[in-house]
Amino acid sequence: TYGLILALVFGYLLGSIPFGLLLTRAAGLGDVRKIGSGNIGATNVLRTGNKGLAAATLLLDALKGTAAVLIAGHFAPETAVWAGLGAFLGHLFPVWLGFKGGKGVATYLGVLIGLAWQVALIFAVVWLAMAFLFRYSSLAALTAAVIVPIALYFLSAPQIAVLFVVMSIIVFIKHRANISRLLAGTEGKIGAKG
Ligand code: G3P
Repeated sequence: TYGLILALVFGYLLGSIPFGLLLTRAAGLGDVRKIGSGNIGATNVLRTGNKGLAAATLLLDALKGTAAVLIAGHFAPETAVWAGLGAFLGHLFPVWLGFKGGKGVATYLGVLIGLAWQVALIFAVVWLAMAFLFRYSSLAALTAAVIVPIALYFLSAPQIAVLFVVMSIIVFIKHRANISRLLAGTEGKIGAKG
C-alpha cells in the first residue's frame, strides 16, 4: 500500500507542474488564465497565437503523464496506474495554483501512451479526425475520451479500462463549460485567437 500511495504522490507532484502557465509567462505573454477559455492547456496557449509554445505545452503536459507511469512502473509495475492517476489529478488540481488546474486532456493522453500506446494511437486518430472535421479541441477530446475506455476494454487491458473510465468522467466534468458552449454554438474553434 505504501508503494501505491508513494506512486500517487509522485505522479501528483509531476502532474501539478503547470507547463502552459510557466511557458507563456517565461515568453512574456502574461497570464494565460486571463485569455480565451482561461484554461492552462495547449488549446488555450494556442490562443496567444504562439504555435510553438502550444506544441511545447501539449508535449510537456503529456510527457509528465508518460514519465510518471514509466518511472513508477520501472520500480514496481503494479504502481504504474496509480502514478498515472496521480499525474492526471495533479494537472487538474495543482496545489501551487490553489487546486485550479487544467482539463487533463494532454496528461490523459500521456498516461495512455505509458500504459497502452496502441490505444494512444487510436486516441490520436480520433482526436485529429474530429478536430479536422469540426475544429473544436474540446469536442475532439470528449469524443476520444468516450472511445478510449471502450477500445481498452476490447483491445488490450480491461483493468486499465477502469482507470480510463474514471479519468474520462472527470474530463467530461472539467469540460462542462465547453459542453454548454458547444451546445450554444459559441465554442471557440482551434486556432481562433482569444
Ligand atoms: O484540452 C482542453 C480542450 O479540450 C479545451 O480547451 O481552452 O478550449 O477550454 P479550452
